[in-house]
This record gives sequence, structure tokens and C-alpha cells, in this order.
Amino acid sequence: MSRICVIGTGYVGLVTGACFADLGNTVVCLDVDETRINRLKSGIMPIYEPGLEQIVDQNVRHGRLSFTTDYPEALKNAEFAFIAVGTPSGVDGEADLQYVRQAAESIADLVEWPIIVVNKSTVPVGTGDWVAEVITRRRNGRPLDFNVVSNPEFLREGSAILDFMSPDRVVLGSLHREAAEKVARLYLSLRCPIMITDLRTAEMVKYASNAFLATRISFINEIANICEELGADVREVARGMGLDKRIGPSFLDAGLGWGGSCFPKDVKALAHMAVLHGTHPQLLQAVMDINRNQRRRVVVKLRRALGTLDQKVIGVLGLSFKPNTDDIREAPALEVIHLLENEGASVRAYDPQAMQAAASVLPRVRLCETAYEVAEGADGLLLATEWNEFKQLDFGIIRQTMRTPIIMDSRNLWDGEQLRAMGFTYFSIGRGSKTNGHTQG
Ligand code: NAD
Ligand code: UGA
Repeated sequence: MSRICVIGTGYVGLVTGACFADLGNTVVCLDVDETRINRLKSGIMPIYEPGLEQIVDQNVRHGRLSFTTDYPEALKNAEFAFIAVGTPSGVDGEADLQYVRQAAESIADLVEWPIIVVNKSTVPVGTGDWVAEVITRRRNGRPLDFNVVSNPEFLREGSAILDFMSPDRVVLGSLHREAAEKVARLYLSLRCPIMITDLRTAEMVKYASNAFLATRISFINEIANICEELGADVREVARGMGLDKRIGPSFLDAGLGWGGSCFPKDVKALAHMAVLHGTHPQLLQAVMDINRNQRRRVVVKLRRALGTLDQKVIGVLGLSFKPNTDDIREAPALEVIHLLENEGASVRAYDPQAMQAAASVLPRVRLCETAYEVAEGADGLLLATEWNEFKQLDFGIIRQTMRTPIIMDSRNLWDGEQLRAMGFTYFSIGRGSKTNGHTQG
């Protein structure tokens, strides 16, 4: 079993650390955020992620997993240093590598034994080479036996543990096959395909995968908008398409578009890389444009239904960028709320997990305790995130307490016919009326 240091204890670092510990390795998770580490030491998770607390707790108790802010302690005798720090968008959409640089420099300063540096953060193509240069430069002539391996992470928030433990594939890239094979051994017990390739190709697999998934979503959203005009139902269209094995059913849910900490920044960063190197990423630009418009369309629908949004009360259900996470980074709900507030609406909202995170970024929004409180007295009710608890709401109560019974189902969660029969004006995404031949939206 191996000794692993994981640098950065966010979604990726914490899940990686906990899962490698669970596979029997000794793992030290390091972060520069003292509050985060102190809380983790007391068993408090910094994020909401199903199954995480249990796996952390179990492995801490067995002595395989520990947390620290102390670099020397974390790196001591480590055979592998996984870099899992954030790579946020810089001013021009490029990936900001300052945290990766800090991590690489700390490794260069503190390690005096053979080590494999594994890049798990999503980093621009060429970063693996750059990390090796940063380390070599920092050593200033002092020799160090090290290799860099790219190991992009493909987990999704909300199912991160499951994704880590049962991945579709593990991708490893290195100029040194032996180093990549050593990292591959850490994953052997997962019994999944392991692809070993060169550094730059591995880095590109990550960007291309995220960009492709975002493209599928923008594609189906564009089809949804056409469906609305032509009287077709996008859910059925997606089902019919997905039955084709070459297409497959995943990532064809039309809605408010993609958000989260990765798709927006990664598509932007890939487009930036492309422009910088003289290519013209037209498709990526269109994918981003469609996504932006998708949020605007629901606001337009509400405005048209109400005549104006000024002084109207709009209730928003769901704030996290997707269900089963408390992450609100680039959440579609936040942008929609911003647009609604700009037009003079007063917004109230509820989310099963993201209320604490939302409180600091939504100062003007009234945060409610339940979905029913959100609906009470509202002129419109907008579903932004399809949490399970919103699937079976009592619309009888909601119908009685809303001031104007307008529903904007931006995730196609509810039965429109039933709601219309109850007296609601119901809008959804890409579900044109079959009887009229054209649009109910
Ligand atoms: P995050 O923001 O949740 O966590 C990053 C952590 O790194 C923070 O806790 C921060 O304090 C810490 N950190 C920053 N500088 C540090 C340093 N010098 N030393 C030690 N710790 C430091 O980020 P995340 O969502 O876990 O993403 C990490 C990387 O993984 C990003 O590149 C992201 O694109 C990629 N990724 C994320 C996901 C996801 O679902 N969130 C999935 C796949 C890949
Ligand atoms: C995504 C990828 O799925 C992961 O493989 C990748 O590792 C990760 O980004 C990353 O690089 O960080 P994540 O952002 O956690 O994972 O969540 P997804 O399930 O991919 O959803 C992203 C966004 O797309 C959400 O806002 C979701 O609501 C939206 N979405 C997803 C749709 O609108 N329609 C769909 O059919 C699927």
C-alpha cells in the first residue's frame, strides 16, 4: 500500500483522499485553509456530498486518513503527491494556475526522496511540462528524482464517491511510462479501463470530455427551443435519439443549461487555449451562447405571462447548480435571480442544501424554509434545480396560496397537463403543445 499526499481538500481532493484511503493506502490531505482543516479534524465536512462523511469518518478511525495544513507533515515520505487545488477562470477565461504553482513549489522545497507528482486539477494542455519546469527551476540545481503524471478527474458532484470508485475509465498521461504505471497500480482494484498516454493528450481528454458533455446539453437545449415553436416534445425527442446506441441517452435533458464549477470555466478555458494558438473555436462559442440564452428565455416567458416583472414576487425552487450538492458556483438559478431582480422582481427561494452558501451571495433574496413558503403570495414559481423533494409537491396547497398561479418548470419535472387542469398557467422547456400544433412552451 502506498503513502499519498493530496494537496487541496475541495471536492476533488477530499473525495480522492478519502477513496484512496478506503482502498487501503495511507493518505494525508493538505489544505491551506485552516478553518476547513480544523473542521475536517472534528469530523465536519466542508461540502455536502452523499456518502462522503461516512467514508471519511471510517478511514480516519482506521488511521489511514488524516488532515493537516502543514506541508512538511503532509509530504513526509509521500510516494505520490496529488495536486487537486482549484484552477479558476482568469480575467480572459484562461485557467488561473497560481495555486498549482504554489503546490509545485512547495513540493520542490520540501521533498528529498523519489516522488511522483500527479496533476488531478483540470489544467491547460502543457501544464504537466510546466509543473516539471517549475519544480526543476525551484530546486536551483539540487537534484530531485521526480516525474509528473497527468490524471484528470471525471467525477460529478452529487455522485462523487460512486464515480471515483466505479469510473468509466482512468486516464494517465506521462512522458515516463513507468511513473504512469505506478499511478495505474493505485487504481487496479477498481477494475476499470486504464488508459496510459502522453501528458498533453491526457490533459486534452479532460477538456474535450467536459466540452463535449456541455455541447450535448446546449444541443438539446437548442432542439428544445425549436420543439417549442414546432409543437414537439423535447423529452420524447431525446428519448428517441438516445435509443440510438451511437448517441446514447445521457446528457440530453433540456433545461436551464449547464452550470457548476467546471463546465463554464473549462469550456471557456478550452476556447481561450484555441484562440491563443490560432484556431477559431466556433462550436465552443455557440455552445456558450446557447447556454447563456437558455437562462434568459425563462425570464422572457415569465415576463410575457405577467406583463411585467416589476414589483412581482417570483419564487425560485432550487439554488445549487444541480441536485445533491450544496455547490452554487455558476448555478443557473443565481443568474436567473439576477435577471429577475434587474427587472424589479422581488425573489424568494428555497434549496434543500444550498441555503447557507446562498445567503452570502443573494442579499436581496428572501430565503424560505420550505417550497410552500416560497410559493405563498408569489406571482410566479420557477423550478431551477430538480431536487427529489420537489418531485411530489402538493400543488393543491400551492394553487391556493400563490397570488398568480404561474409555473415555470425549467427542468421539465412536473406533469404539465395535470397542473393546467388544476388552473395553473404552466410553462416548461421544449414541450410544444401536441394538440395545437404549436407552442405552449
Ligand atoms: P475547490 O475549490 O473545491 O478546492 C480547492 C482547494 O484547494 C481549496 O480548499 C483550497 O483552499 C485549496 N488550495 C488552494 N491552494 C492551495 C495550496 N497551495 N496548497 C494546498 N491547498 C490549496 O476545488 P475542486 O472543485 O475540488 O476542484 C479542484 C480541481 O479539480 C479544479 O481544477 C477542477 O476543475 C477539477 N475538477 C473538479 C471537479 C468537481 O466536481 N468539483 C471534477 C473534476 C475536476
Ligand atoms: C461535470 C462532469 O459531468 C464530470 O465528468 C466532470 O468531472 C466535472 O464536470 C468537472 O470537471 O468538474 P458536474 O459539473 O459535477 O460534473 O455535474 P454534471 O452532472 O455534469 O452537470 C453539470 C451541469 O449540467 C448541471 O448544471 C446540470 O444541471 C446540467 N445538465 C446536465 C443539464 O442541464 N442537462 C443534462 O442532461 C445533464
